[in-house]
Amino acid sequence: MKKRVFSGARPTARQHIGNYLGAIQNYVALQEEYECVYCVVDIHALTSMEDTRPLQEYNREIVLDWLAAGMDTERTIIFIQSHVPEVMELHTLLSMVTPLSWLMRVPTFKEKVKQQPENVNYGLVGYPVLQAADITLYKADVVPIGEDQLPHLELTREIVRRFNNQFGETLIEPVAKLTSFPRIVGLDGSDKMGKTSGNAIELAATPEETEVRIMTAVTDPARRYRNDPGHPEVCNIYSLHGYFSESQIADIFRQCRAAEIGCVDCKKLLAEHINSSLRALREKRSELAARPEYITEVLTDGAQRARIIARETLHQVKQNMRLI
Ligand code: TRP
Ligand code: SF4
Repeated sequence: MKKRVFSGARPTARQHIGNYLGAIQNYVALQEEYECVYCVVDIHALTSMEDTRPLQEYNREIVLDWLAAGMDTERTIIFIQSHVPEVMELHTLLSMVTPLSWLMRVPTFKEKVKQQPENVNYGLVGYPVLQAADITLYKADVVPIGEDQLPHLELTREIVRRFNNQFGETLIEPVAKLTSFPRIVGLDGSDKMGKTSGNAIELAATPEETEVRIMTAVTDPARRYRNDPGHPEVCNIYSLHGYFSESQIADIFRQCRAAEIGCVDCKKLLAEHINSSLRALREKRSELAARPEYITEVLTDGAQRARIIARETLHQVKQNMRLI
């Protein structure tokens, strides 16, 4: 039997090329080897979202990005977290075996307390428990994640061990599968793409928007004049060339160092390459976007299939806890 993969993404905005290179391509590739379950975690999003009006739209935007990138609804379950409410039941039950001290130590929690001191809600503390419920409800063996999510996965494993210890072998202890791409830095030089608006290129962006974003991105700050030799190793544009201009990467490095190419031309080349490599995806995305009823169908079907697995797990959990 194939092993099962589960991963989730928060519907906070449209996906950008950083998500694409870091996560989505990986999700798509994993379909060859695993039975995959991919979830838009809207309940997790609520921990940092006071105005929920755009939520429905965000959910659909991510699903469009995923489908356009090659997720296959025949093989893969794609659904919205809240459509399978069993996860909230499991979350409550898992919270009983999770010491509060474990949650207070989680780095993302501490970060959120700093980011949103006016909204340190109860849900935020339980965020990793809800994530553990996601992963274990769907009996995932493998969880593809970025490095920033490792503490959450470690916590899931600890919760599983504790639960199984107390109530007998019930839940599967998942392993992390780190995405092979490093973090994609922001176009404004910040440490991560998507952290602040304007520093990312959305998958759904038009070729023109893509070019504008690239042209205004920061490069090697030491290269102020056209004749200054550049330092490609510190330049974000150069690192993006690594993904989109692989065959020319050695030339770009040399030409930048020797001041043979200016940043404007270098950026134009990158914009062209990004646009040509995303052309097919963007076409498929706009075709799908024109068929909202199809997306509804995909999500209804996904939730139905997910729920079958969820009910079975929850039944076992409740039995072993002597609730039924
Ligand atoms: N916490 C993850 C993030 O911020 C999203 C997430 C929720 C998730 N549940 C998950 C990721 C389960 C992997 C598995 O990106
Ligand atoms: Fe960066 Fe290209 Fe300019 Fe070199 S030429 S600093 S790699 S944008």
